[in-house]
Amino acid sequence: MKPVRLAILGLGTVGGGALKLLQENAAEIARRTGRDIQITHVGTRRPRPDLNLDGIAQSEDLLSIVRQDNVDIVIEVIGGTSQAHDVVLEAIRHGKHVVTANKALLAEHGNELFKEAEQHNVQIAFEAAVAGGIPIIKVMREGLAANKIEWLAGIINGTGNFIMTEMRDKGRAFADVLAEAQALGYAEADPTFDVEGIDAAHKLTLLASIAFGIPLQFDKVYTEGISKLTAQDVSYAEELGYRIKHLGVARRLAHGIELRVHPTLIPESRLIANVNGVKNAVLVQSNAVGPSLYYGAGAGAGPTASAVVADVLDLVRFISTQSLTGQENDQKTNASYVPHLAFQPDALENTPILAADQMTTAYYLRLDAEDHPGVLAEVTSILSRAGINIDAILQKPAQDQGRVPVILLTQPVLEANMNEAIAQIEKLAAIHAPVVRIRLETLDS
Ligand code: HSE
Repeated sequence: MKPVRLAILGLGTVGGGALKLLQENAAEIARRTGRDIQITHVGTRRPRPDLNLDGIAQSEDLLSIVRQDNVDIVIEVIGGTSQAHDVVLEAIRHGKHVVTANKALLAEHGNELFKEAEQHNVQIAFEAAVAGGIPIIKVMREGLAANKIEWLAGIINGTGNFIMTEMRDKGRAFADVLAEAQALGYAEADPTFDVEGIDAAHKLTLLASIAFGIPLQFDKVYTEGISKLTAQDVSYAEELGYRIKHLGVARRLAHGIELRVHPTLIPESRLIANVNGVKNAVLVQSNAVGPSLYYGAGAGAGPTASAVVADVLDLVRFISTQSLTGQENDQKTNASYVPHLAFQPDALENTPILAADQMTTAYYLRLDAEDHPGVLAEVTSILSRAGINIDAILQKPAQDQGRVPVILLTQPVLEANMNEAIAQIEKLAAIHAPVVRIRLETLDS
């Protein structure tokens, strides 16, 4: 059989990593696919003298590359949602399969792009878009396909987890660790995407859709970053037996779905609480397996390239199957492939996504309280009237101007009720606003 021909668009951390991996492991890969893979084009603006580009056509004109006849699969690793959108659409319209690591593109435009791919009988593969080298898309779309997935919770941004780990373990400054994450190729082009939770929200959007069979709805994810977390809260949480992690949570309830990304206290005994550095982990609760946890490197050239190349291998096999039946871009074989969002496109459900104040979580609250009799009684009576059950209270020694930090852990509560209770607590003369609040998840199965 003739080789399957690839165009790699973008030769940054991921594109360069994928090219190297395809070359270094070519013999091993051919043993798996039974077919050669040939890189015919790279689309790049910057020279990469460190890479072996012998015999590969180079161009800056990405649209022209995806229109070439000698390209079967386009690997889009330029990132962003503007040029990448146009190039991917053009590739699809020219009958090319697409492999992409671009979570922003799919979270924001995936409904349109998947539909277009289905109409043109091509596949968009996106393992590398979520959790780097962890094959979580394959796990959830195929490995757990017999299950009804109830919820998932993931540490799905390597840069953020790396920053939080280094700050906690080594006392390093935020900006210093972020600069290192950028140098290591972990961070997004705009690192606020990492620290403000936008990158995690993109990934959560994809995971939630393939978990529950719902359309992609990035605009409905509640998103809170890690930039306001303090060392003080990290340390108080630890005294109470918790670690703070930046979690993406998707939970299916009877009346709707929660989609949220925020700093979260997790009991330190949970495996996921001990996921450190650039590592990612996704905990999936499904009705037949129960809880299952997937762990590995969430960013960087090697892990992300591993996911890109695995997708290429899947597509090579798919193209070979089509060649056997003499039907390239055949509608029937295409429609019988694993659906993009795990469920048949016409079986996606429009389950409502809950607004932030309709979500339910437990809470860590830190109050800046004056130290005199009756203050705690006032606070606990507000919580009691709001039906909020307290799990633990910790009062720390007096600090500035004799004020004391008071930490409360609560049982799960409807966010609207917690908002109302906090508004009342902040009005108390003995409490100095703002009340610090961090959500808490026990992650029980
Ligand atoms: N910036 C992302 C991260 C890269 O740090 O996780 C992988 O998607």
